[in-house]
Amino acid sequence: MGAVNGGTLKDRRNYFKMKYKTAVGLVLLSLIVSNEALRILVCYPMTSKSHSILGHGVVNRLLEAGHEVTHITSFPRGIAHPNLREVNVSRIAEAFLEDKKSTEEFALKNMVGKGNFAESVMFLYYVYLIHKNFLEFPSVVELFSDPNEKFDAVILEWFFTELNSGIPALFDCPLIWVCSTEPDWHAFRIMDGITNPAYSLDLFTHYTLPLSFWQRAEGLYKLVKKNLQLLVFYQFEKWTYNSYYPAVAAKRGVTMPPYEEAVYNGSLMFLNAHPSIGGAMKLPQNTVNIAGYHIDKTKPLPQDLQKLMDEAKDGVIYFSMGSILESSGMSENMKRSLLNMFSKYKQTVIWKFETDLTGIPDNVHLVKWAPQTSILAHPNLRLFITHGGQLSTSEAIHYGVPVVGLPVMADQVLNMKSTAAKGFGIHVTISEDMYEDLDTAVRKVLDDKTYAKKAKELSALFHDREMPPGKAVPYWVEYIVRNRGAPHLRSPALHVPLYQKLYLDLAVVLTIIIVLITKAVKYILGCRSKEQKKEKSS
Ligand SMILES: *[C@@H]1O[C@H](CO)[C@@H](O)[C@H](O)[C@H]1NC(C)=O
Repeated sequence: MGAVNGGTLKDRRNYFKMKYKTAVGLVLLSLIVSNEALRILVCYPMTSKSHSILGHGVVNRLLEAGHEVTHITSFPRGIAHPNLREVNVSRIAEAFLEDKKSTEEFALKNMVGKGNFAESVMFLYYVYLIHKNFLEFPSVVELFSDPNEKFDAVILEWFFTELNSGIPALFDCPLIWVCSTEPDWHAFRIMDGITNPAYSLDLFTHYTLPLSFWQRAEGLYKLVKKNLQLLVFYQFEKWTYNSYYPAVAAKRGVTMPPYEEAVYNGSLMFLNAHPSIGGAMKLPQNTVNIAGYHIDKTKPLPQDLQKLMDEAKDGVIYFSMGSILESSGMSENMKRSLLNMFSKYKQTVIWKFETDLTGIPDNVHLVKWAPQTSILAHPNLRLFITHGGQLSTSEAIHYGVPVVGLPVMADQVLNMKSTAAKGFGIHVTISEDMYEDLDTAVRKVLDDKTYAKKAKELSALFHDREMPPGKAVPYWVEYIVRNRGAPHLRSPALHVPLYQKLYLDLAVVLTIIIVLITKAVKYILGCRSKEQKKEKSS
């Protein structure tokens, strides 16, 4: 500054030029930043760990792209980030402690081959209650009611209910769904229409394509049955929608669209799927496969695990039953038999086990928490024994690791059937006397190199895309905001009622015509035969 005051005219001019340039630069920069940074609301009502990992995946990718995110979650990360605000709704789960117990119970029931909670009305009711509690959670109501809160897009986890579909209307911005599983007709229902059960599978089915005659018949029967259930729930949800949203909307000075419009107003649906791990499904234009998007850049292993895996000259087997079904909940007999089985392998076994256990063989290493992706990334890893959840299967394929699956519930069976059909793993039915089967499967995957080879091939397919899935998340969110909800991508099928899709109206018209023609023909023939009779008798 002093230099300017005392300097020559030229100095002074240069100084002002510089100042001007910096100012213009700053203005431009702020324009660019404010143009690019979107304000996005991300809602993950489901209270389980695996769903929340997928929610954090969405948030991480948006933060990396420079956007501002408000994340409503049951598992806040608690690490401050200048562009992130977290709303903690973990207390929703407390109301469900009783249900958590029953979650484990039904899992165990499934272990002996009975009970299918996920296909029952109770499942729909459970999902409905979680979403209702989510909406009514005090800090959520406060956020939604505040007229100063503004968002450019709302991202909602889709999980078997559309109760949340009113949230984007509160903020007058586009709705983007994220389907956490392989999508099936339930999800496609709100984006396009119910898929044909002859060649598209229900998420909870135990069949694989192609279907036999009876499997197709059963598929159709279940589809009709479940749709009748949904019809009942739809009324519940509509009632809840109408009793919840208008009050909140009034505080913001907006009016709510009718429920039947809000449900079908999704601009886009992200699918946690990819044909390399699941099926090649027929997709509406406004759906995007993003399986693998939640996987961060591989972090280094903790030192002890790094050393253990580096030194395992015969390779490593990693065993984890995921975050809902903890291994520590297994029966004593199951634990002992597994340890006994593992002790016979020359490989090192890393077992994610949540409590302490005595009498552990030398080659078995228990960890209470497992850095799963870093373990899967290690070159010495030979096999992953998993419960077959969507997260674990996609992570296995991301890193090209063959699996042995012990599916317990929900979509895990379908995932493992698909894995086996694709040839990168073996499906074993979980039970108290599964050890022979499990041992055979483990040895087969370790000895027969085709499994590892197939896993590497599928991993290459998984990564060979027009855009990495992590980049697709911000890309499509920005696309939808830029194009005001991108109505041009929506399926025209949403406006065609079922009777028109099935051509029932045409069938009625044709039936009437045929009946009329038959009647006319009969009438004419009748007249003629009368005339002939008259002629004969005269
Ligand atoms: C549907 O979404 C579009 C795009 O976000 C929005 O402009 C419109 O108001 C929404 N319609 C209803 C009925 O909510």
